[in-house]
Amino acid sequence: MKEAIFSRCQVETPPDVVQLVWSLISEQRPGEIFDSVLDLGAGDGRFSQISGAYRKYTGIERDETRALQANLPPEAELVVADALQWDGSDYSLCVGNPPYIRHHGLERSWRDSALQRIEASGGPALKKTANAFVIFLAQALMCTKADGIVAQVVPYEWVTRPSAKELREFIEAKGWGVDVYRFDSNIFPTVLTTASITIIDKNANPGQWRFGSITRSGAVKLASYASGTHSKVISYSDGSKACKAIRGLSPGGQEIFVLTEEERLFHSLKKGVDVRPCVTSLRSVSHELESLDKESFERLFVHTGARCWLIRSDKEKISPQLQRYLDSVDEAAWKKYSTCTQRALWWRYRPHPAPALLVASGFTTKGPKVLLNEVGAIAAGSVYGVLIEQEQQLAPGMAEKLRRYDFQRRLVHHSNGLKKVEVRQLNAVLADLLLD
Ligand SMILES: C[S@@+](CC[C@H](N)C(=O)[O-])C[C@H]1O[C@@H](n2cnc3c(N)ncnc32)[C@H](O)[C@@H]1O
Repeated sequence: MKEAIFSRCQVETPPDVVQLVWSLISEQRPGEIFDSVLDLGAGDGRFSQISGAYRKYTGIERDETRALQANLPPEAELVVADALQWDGSDYSLCVGNPPYIRHHGLERSWRDSALQRIEASGGPALKKTANAFVIFLAQALMCTKADGIVAQVVPYEWVTRPSAKELREFIEAKGWGVDVYRFDSNIFPTVLTTASITIIDKNANPGQWRFGSITRSGAVKLASYASGTHSKVISYSDGSKACKAIRGLSPGGQEIFVLTEEERLFHSLKKGVDVRPCVTSLRSVSHELESLDKESFERLFVHTGARCWLIRSDKEKISPQLQRYLDSVDEAAWKKYSTCTQRALWWRYRPHPAPALLVASGFTTKGPKVLLNEVGAIAAGSVYGVLIEQEQQLAPGMAEKLRRYDFQRRLVHHSNGLKKVEVRQLNAVLADLLLD
């Protein structure tokens, strides 16, 4: 795994959360003293700090300095090794808090060999986009015995994310019982994801999936579905030709490609020639606004100093003014963006069409803000665009349906109150609403 990312994944579990995990394990298996406990990515071995719950604990930690800090009970040991190369098996319990590292941060060779080993030992065929903690969860399942149990502090997202689909299907096919309790508060303030305690019991009969929320003091509230409500989580789908949501354009540095009105005037860039309207966020827009027309665009974006003019460096021919502007951009500024460094001409981005609708990806109320795009703005950054084939006829009705749709009930909430709809989830909603 890449070294800078490796150190960032070293988030410690607070001692009260360690105790909470153990108390949920003992509720699941009352009175059981586990013969052998494995902890993959054990840090300083803090999950061994419990008395009378196990006979032997083995923690596997890659970082020698962390392992050396450990002060362990006599029946516990820490081994400095790679958890995904660990051959031990038939443990009664695998406990812990594995590293959270997105697939981009994983070394390809490490990931490929980990995925191969898991599959070769009869585990799921995980996607290459699986997060490290999903790979660790699969490894935990492989290392435990046929009636063993896995109890891990992992991001709640694994219950819905497409990149963990194979893992969920594998568990379902085995008929194991799963309890996933989402923390109702921020356990790891430095990590932007909602933590859960996930317990997979191979001996649970019948293997049910139960979802709920949990307070730090251990009070559990059960819900019917992973959304935490009584409605199913929105599925993921690709858009259709008739109607498709697309991610906001990322030209490579908004401060370079999306200018304020003042910057536009300073560089003498002409509207419609050198720049076009663009929205990177809908935060300043009120929920009541239904359509972004010339007047509201000027009032809410142009005159407030927002970044709202996308430079037309996507065009084959650019004006001398725009060329002068591009020449004035400091090399160090654009070299920060790999999107720019990977292009033959650092500034020539691939354009997006102006969508019929603009939809915010994040929201705090019932659903995201939705605007009819009458000004022809390009959606960038956190704003999604919705392309509609029969735009004139269908766009106003679709905007209205999206505004009425209760996204909140059908999404996994994050503890900071912010909700987010993924672009492929928006496509699933659009497909439903199109049939409606
Ligand atoms: C989120 S931390 C948790 C540490 C500890 N279990 C705790 O709960 O405080 C994840 C740990 O996994 C370790 N780790 C990351 N990759 C690893 C690997 N391939 N093999 C073993 N340990 C690894 C990190 O060094 C880090 O200590």
